[in-house]
Amino acid sequence: MSGSILIKKKISRYNKSITVSGDKSISIRWVLFSSIADGISEGQNLLRSEDVLAAIDAIRKLGIKVQLTKKSCTIHGKGINGYRYKNNLKINAKNSGTLARLILGLLINSTKTINIVGDKSLSKRDFKRVAVPLSNFGAKFKLKKNKNLPLSMRGSSDLKPYKYFENRGSAQCKSAVIFAGMRAPGLTTIKAKKSRNHTELLCKYLKLPITIKNKKNYDEIKVRKIEKIKPLNYKIPSDISSSAFFIVLTVLTPGSKLTIKNVNINPSRIGIIKILKKMGVKIKFENKKIYKGEKNADIKILSPKNLNGINCPSKLNSGAIDEFLVIFLVAAKAKGVSYFKNLSELNEKESPRLKWGAKILNKMGIKTIINKDSIKIYGNPNLNINKKIVIKNYLKDHRVFMTSVIAALSFGGTWNIHDKNSIQTSFPNFLNIINELKK
Ligand code: S3P
Repeated sequence: MSGSILIKKKISRYNKSITVSGDKSISIRWVLFSSIADGISEGQNLLRSEDVLAAIDAIRKLGIKVQLTKKSCTIHGKGINGYRYKNNLKINAKNSGTLARLILGLLINSTKTINIVGDKSLSKRDFKRVAVPLSNFGAKFKLKKNKNLPLSMRGSSDLKPYKYFENRGSAQCKSAVIFAGMRAPGLTTIKAKKSRNHTELLCKYLKLPITIKNKKNYDEIKVRKIEKIKPLNYKIPSDISSSAFFIVLTVLTPGSKLTIKNVNINPSRIGIIKILKKMGVKIKFENKKIYKGEKNADIKILSPKNLNGINCPSKLNSGAIDEFLVIFLVAAKAKGVSYFKNLSELNEKESPRLKWGAKILNKMGIKTIINKDSIKIYGNPNLNINKKIVIKNYLKDHRVFMTSVIAALSFGGTWNIHDKNSIQTSFPNFLNIINELKK
């Protein structure tokens, strides 16, 4: 049983320094890159969550040896053509869209059929968005209802490079095609709406044959077939998406101050910082460093006296795509009406998050107007909840759970939040850090 949590009291103000777990996107990418490297890669501070463990299980099934100790993860890569597995192998990606989509790109040159399954939430998500571009390289797909998991893919030994236009701002689609381009002869070109660029940065760090031109709204990426990848020792920085919950808790808890250590502040990930600054929050980056092409820093947050509503520029959407649920909580306390638009992608996540965002706010007594891709939030700077709120049946979306916990600790009321185990997906340490802040 995954259990529920009861919260009856707001958190008291605090002045603390914390460290959150490793970045999920970088952890999964490191596992996948290391699995096709020539030799042993060692990872430190790898996120130990179900999504990342599913990636480790997947490469083990492909014949790659992985050793996990308390402190490190060692992957014995067997080279770019080193996967060994039987026809019709089944990989369970559990809740992870990143794993399920990216691994398809890596398997595109294999003529053995691969089956991808996932949990209830992942099985509702759109896989046509990767099946279509990967079919253009020469892979053959079968998808449930032409769109969903389970799917099976049979790659090809006669791949054709492809010219791909990624216009959703999806880093998963872009990365799946980059991986496929690393397998296909000739030149694969991608014009991609801006999205997180960890895959590209790892390719560059590994000196793989990739070029990237950053245009105003798009990136132009060119990839060639790779012959060899060297092993990659990597110390994973902390995850800004996990940090987001504590950033918002601090913003919403008057008189509080927080430092979060060594967080990945890749410019394609810091939409939440830009949005909160526009709403009147003081946030600083300190001890900035560049590590293997990624920017990392300590984040310092001070709870502001006042919060302003925002008409959020759509260009900030992809850099904050996993953070909107908690950002909506800030809008709930801001002065005036906040407006977030062009967010249809939010309903494509682990749960339909635009709908769930509105649902949580409505339960809190906040008025919203939503349509299929936007939300207006009527903020109330004096919001104080006195009633009972139950949160359940949300497809175990980890971010719905964590957002509800932050709302309960910030606004009061009595909250019964189901499916506590959902945090295992991305942030098993979440409730321990909450307890640290309560001390
Ligand atoms: C991710 C990309 C985003 C994000 C997800 C992780 C990644 O998804 O929401 O949590 O690691 O590439 P999309 O590519 O579907 O936008």
